[in-house]
Amino acid sequence: MPAWLITGSSRGIGFELAKQLAANSANTVFATCRKPDAANALKELAKTHKNVHVVALDVDDEASAAAAAETVKSALPAGAGIDYLINNAGWGVRVSFEEEEIATIAAVFNTHVLGALRVFRAFLPLLKLGTRKVVVSVSSELGSLAYVDDPRVGSAFPSYSIAKTGLNMLTRKIAKQYPDFIVFAFAPGWIKTEMGGSGAEYEVDDAVKRHIKIYETATLEKHTDKFINQFEDPVAW
Ligand SMILES: NC(=O)c1ccc[n+]([C@@H]2O[C@H](COP(=O)([O-])OP(=O)(O)OC[C@H]3O[C@@H](n4cnc5c(N)ncnc54)[C@H](OP(=O)(O)O)[C@@H]3O)[C@@H](O)[C@H]2O)c1
Repeated sequence: MPAWLITGSSRGIGFELAKQLAANSANTVFATCRKPDAANALKELAKTHKNVHVVALDVDDEASAAAAAETVKSALPAGAGIDYLINNAGWGVRVSFEEEEIATIAAVFNTHVLGALRVFRAFLPLLKLGTRKVVVSVSSELGSLAYVDDPRVGSAFPSYSIAKTGLNMLTRKIAKQYPDFIVFAFAPGWIKTEMGGSGAEYEVDDAVKRHIKIYETATLEKHTDKFINQFEDPVAW
């Protein structure tokens, strides 16, 4: 009975992940989002799938993360934990380096880096009780220091790139601190979602099928402290 905790599952990659995982009745899916009342697709999914629990979680808010962990704990059988934590919540803005406001850089960093840390800390006791202990940081090639030299990247997407680089470092620190956890940074691909846009390279359902396969088969030896893409190829830090 693997238990999954997904952040940012109201739409996009997070919602598709909840939907595909729900189709396997062996999974218990904690699909979290900021505003459950407004998350209509997720509410519909939970109506038709008993293994889906919709839980409020704003990763920007420590009290929200703590409350979500309590809710999840009380929904799990006594002594059971979380097997997979997918830190997926994120957002970005499309402005140039010169236009980027300090406050925006701080806010994006807060969600991607501190948000992932808040959620990890809040769910750490449940992760310790889990069997798989998989922690995924949904990152991006834009967080790769090496990719800045790609002429398509350069100075573009400053706050988002800075945040994903920070998330990658957080991932490595968690991997070093918890050597029995399978912890890795993951570049999901350029996917057709609200963030990726309709011109993106990959359909969300196809990409998420690949994501789930990687998550379910990840091992300490092959995946922990790595940065990989949806085809399991290494991405340069
Ligand atoms: N799509 C791509 O091409 C692509 C490429 C590389 C990496 N990624 C990464 O993949 C992840 C998912 O992206 P996506 O394409 O699915 O984007 P999306 O369709 O825009 O969905 C983003 C999700 O994150 C949630 N979210 C934003 N801020 C949050 C917060 N403070 N607390 C909780 N949830 C929050 C949103 O919830 P609300 O409904 O409440 O706003 C929404 O559910 C992100 O981390 C993104 O950086 C995406």
